[in-house]
Amino acid sequence: MTDQLESETLVAVVTGASAGLGLAIVSRFARSGYYVVMVGRGRSRLETARESLEDKIQSSVLIHACDVTTSSDVEELFREVEARYGRLDVLVNCVGESDRGLLQNLNPERMRQLFEVNVFSALHCTQAALPLLEQTGGVVLNVGSLASKVGARFIGGYAVAKHALAGLTQQFRLELLSRGVHVCLLSPGPIKREDAGSRYSSHLTSELPEQARRPGGGTRVKGLSPDQIASVALTMVQKRQPDRVLPSYLRLLISIGHFWPRLGDWLLLKFTSEAASK
Ligand SMILES: NC(=O)c1ccc[n+]([C@@H]2O[C@H](COP(=O)([O-])OP(=O)(O)OC[C@H]3O[C@@H](n4cnc5c(N)ncnc54)[C@H](OP(=O)(O)O)[C@@H]3O)[C@@H](O)[C@H]2O)c1
Repeated sequence: MTDQLESETLVAVVTGASAGLGLAIVSRFARSGYYVVMVGRGRSRLETARESLEDKIQSSVLIHACDVTTSSDVEELFREVEARYGRLDVLVNCVGESDRGLLQNLNPERMRQLFEVNVFSALHCTQAALPLLEQTGGVVLNVGSLASKVGARFIGGYAVAKHALAGLTQQFRLELLSRGVHVCLLSPGPIKREDAGSRYSSHLTSELPEQARRPGGGTRVKGLSPDQIASVALTMVQKRQPDRVLPSYLRLLISIGHFWPRLGDWLLLKFTSEAASK
């Protein structure tokens, strides 16, 4: 049965929504008046996350447990969105996972997992959401990383997968422009969180320096708050911006690397210079 939406109410689906940046994006969109469908694999994790939101927005947030790397789950997700709301205005592909390690030791199976979670998830969701997004002239926002724009040492297959997501985003944007659907990429640096220094401990091996456990594999960029990134995500959707890097000044470093690759590499090594000392 279709929920009774007020005619102007916009609907957003946010994947990877039960924790971290995804949860901050849910909160930001719901506070600005969207109905939001939160997607994650663990139902109880989603329920706990929903309860952590301000009381006044909880009634406009729906949870849907599914694995977005599985195409049948994804098709079911958008069937439910259509049945329940009859429309979709925004898809935020926030599911993603980083890595630690050296490319010379990267196991192809691990690379496949990283592609599943960082790339195929966005591909499946965008394809399945497209018929609904075309009806509203909607927006797809993909969450990349600085690793979508530059390589860095010690982050295993993460930059490879996030660069693929950047390519997917631009190609979709060009392909869907004439169909009225806008596709954009938000590439934030390391996010401030309590477990920032410990979450990749299980991937660390003896050939990696201590700094590899730090956010971004030792990148010397100040952590961003999830709320700050979520506000930029909302602005990108509202203004149909194509591509943002956070912090914004790093776009200069990225551009320098495009014009002068040697200088770009030198600057990147400077940004991880403590890690370089091992
Ligand atoms: N953390 C950073 O410093 C940082 C920096 C730059 C960019 N990013 C990017 O920002 C995004 C969010 O990162 P985060 O660190 O905030 O995430 P996170 O805290 O690790 O949360 C990941 C979320 O995704 C869900 N999830 C994972 N696999 C899923 C799947 N197959 N299907 C459905 N849901 C799935 C998880 O819930 P379940 O486990 O219950 O499914 C959880 O809600 C990612 O794309 C990441 O690459 C992060």
